[in-house]
Amino acid sequence: MDLLRKKSVDDVIHQNDDVGPDGDSPDGAGHLQKHLSAKDLVGFGIGIVIGTGIFTLTGLQAKVNAGPAVTISFLIAGAVALLAALCYAELASAVPTAGSSYTYSYTTIGEIFAWIIAWDLILEFALGSAVVARGWSGYLAGVFDLPDKWFAEEGSVVNVGAIFIVVLLGWVAMRGIRESAWVTNGLVVIKVSVCIFVIAVGAFFVKTGNLVPFIPQSAPPEGGEEASGLHAPLWQFVSGVEPATFGITGIFVAAAVVFFAYSGFEAVANLGEETKNPKRDMPLGLLGTLGICTLLYVGVCLVLTGMVHYSKLSEGDAVADVFDQVGLEWAGILIGVAAVAGLTSVILVDLVAMPRIGFALARDGLLPEAFRRIHPTWGTPVLMTGITIVAVALLAGFVPISILAEMVSIGTLFAFVVVAIAVIVLRRTQPDMNRPFRTPWVPLVPIVTVASCFGLMASLKVDTWLRFVVWLALGFVVYFLYGYKHSKLHQQAAGKESA
Ligand code: ALA
Repeated sequence: MDLLRKKSVDDVIHQNDDVGPDGDSPDGAGHLQKHLSAKDLVGFGIGIVIGTGIFTLTGLQAKVNAGPAVTISFLIAGAVALLAALCYAELASAVPTAGSSYTYSYTTIGEIFAWIIAWDLILEFALGSAVVARGWSGYLAGVFDLPDKWFAEEGSVVNVGAIFIVVLLGWVAMRGIRESAWVTNGLVVIKVSVCIFVIAVGAFFVKTGNLVPFIPQSAPPEGGEEASGLHAPLWQFVSGVEPATFGITGIFVAAAVVFFAYSGFEAVANLGEETKNPKRDMPLGLLGTLGICTLLYVGVCLVLTGMVHYSKLSEGDAVADVFDQVGLEWAGILIGVAAVAGLTSVILVDLVAMPRIGFALARDGLLPEAFRRIHPTWGTPVLMTGITIVAVALLAGFVPISILAEMVSIGTLFAFVVVAIAVIVLRRTQPDMNRPFRTPWVPLVPIVTVASCFGLMASLKVDTWLRFVVWLALGFVVYFLYGYKHSKLHQQAAGKESA
């Protein structure tokens, strides 16, 4: 069996003659112009990265895991994201296509890794959009005072708001309607302005008493028995240490979950080919994006946990709710409306991107042909989009945000482990490959990346690990039952043999 067969870079470039959904090539490659500067990269990155992570997970994680030290969790997660970004950028700029990590793993490390990464990306996009949909619903409920039972994170059985927004935006994605660049840029400005507003205005309401102790004393988890066993972080389960929340353990658990808040920066690394001077602009773009997001995140965390005691933070719309709690209701509504608008665009981007992964897999023969069928008038892959909408709506409607976010974090961290290992392997196997951007201090940076990603993954719950392993196992079953034999590369090889 040839599990490591690779696509040639030439094939990747020519596959773009094959026009995909929305009239352009599915992985966005083709004849791209080098017109982006570091500043463009930072603007684009911030637009994609800021979302539910800061708006929703901050309140939840401060309340249940870290207290005011959630700020430290965001710093740790930001540092790991930065290391991963440095590895990611080398691979993304080395293969002359703007395709996702799937495409360049396929040309460099081989089919089975490419498949795993794609399978992992499907999980990330589907669950990621469900997380954002639940965050959206929480903020909508805050603005219009909607019943908790159908909209809130606490106490809802089925989240009708999240299902509604997924179906609505799914329909928009299905019809091939995309946001104009004007709307996208406007939303970036709104999201950044909200963070700056929260920090600048909220700072006047901070009571230092709320920030002391900054790291609350470690305590047994609420729910006793229920919070141990499979609900304990992996390292505690394996080492037999008593499960605990808060304290140093709580900081790391929260860091693993809020890693979600940085996900999306990979999209910046994918723009290597369109960047004027990738060697200089790419690290600046990545550092700039992650640096600015980290600063905004840290500022928002400090203000949020300083304005009210962490135990009183809302699990749904914390950033707006703290302003209500200090009597600034107008500010709460303003932030709520801005968050609803900002999060809408994140869901739409995810719902448009996810069917494209299915499309790329079907084009390479790894999924059935039906998944790449394009609707004659809408120009979108309808079957894949339809499946995406149903799956995401069910997840968003019924699964709590913390479970979904942990799954996205584990998936993203795993993908970065594969990418960092690939950087080391390729430096050995293909030393002469053209690398417009080179990860500094190889193999040290990739090794530290792998170790720190595993470190954060070990802080995720055992049941998150089990769900992830089941998902990967399912991926292998699909690959060995279908993808391996139907892969275009397999068919080409079989054709050559019989000729
Ligand atoms: N980083 C994005 C968010 O926080 C996915 O919503």
